[in-house]
Amino acid sequence: MKRILTYGTFDLLHYGHIRLLKRAKALGDYLIVALSTDEFNELKGKKSYHNYETRKKMLEAIRYVDLVIPEENWEQKISDIQKYEVDVVVMGSDWAGSDKFSYLTKYCELIYLDRTEGISTTKIKNELRLQNPINGVDQLPEPESE
Ligand code: CTP
Repeated sequence: MKRILTYGTFDLLHYGHIRLLKRAKALGDYLIVALSTDEFNELKGKKSYHNYETRKKMLEAIRYVDLVIPEENWEQKISDIQKYEVDVVVMGSDWAGSDKFSYLTKYCELIYLDRTEGISTTKIKNELRLQNPINGVDQLPEPESE
């Protein structure tokens, strides 16, 4: 059983996310997504459209995703790798030029996957805002929990 782990916010799920998840899963047998919590996003200066619970449910509905865990800080990666017996950490190629995560190679393999051109959550948000500058809403009510 080869276990893969990746990190992200996955807000306003789009085909760039789906492609990343599909390719990450194809590297092994079991894909874990560490999903940034709303509090961690705030720390990073990010505000997602959907809250953590909604983003988690959407990821859990994707066939490539086996488990969603919370990403609460920058320091948890080594303990995630050990706790879930991870073989490969996947990062988006946006990080490939930096040494930020190279320390992980002591614990598992580290693979960077190319981003999909032409799509991002930020782009979707900006384009919707441009289309609807007056009545634009930043957040819809979240679905009732089941
Ligand atoms: N990703 C990708 N291709 C894209 C957008 C994202 O492969 N076009 C990948 C990222 O590299 C990351 C994962 O999807 O591994 C989650 O990225 P996230 O930052 O949540 O999505 P973005 O669309 O990049 O969001 P934002 O615009 O807020 O940065």
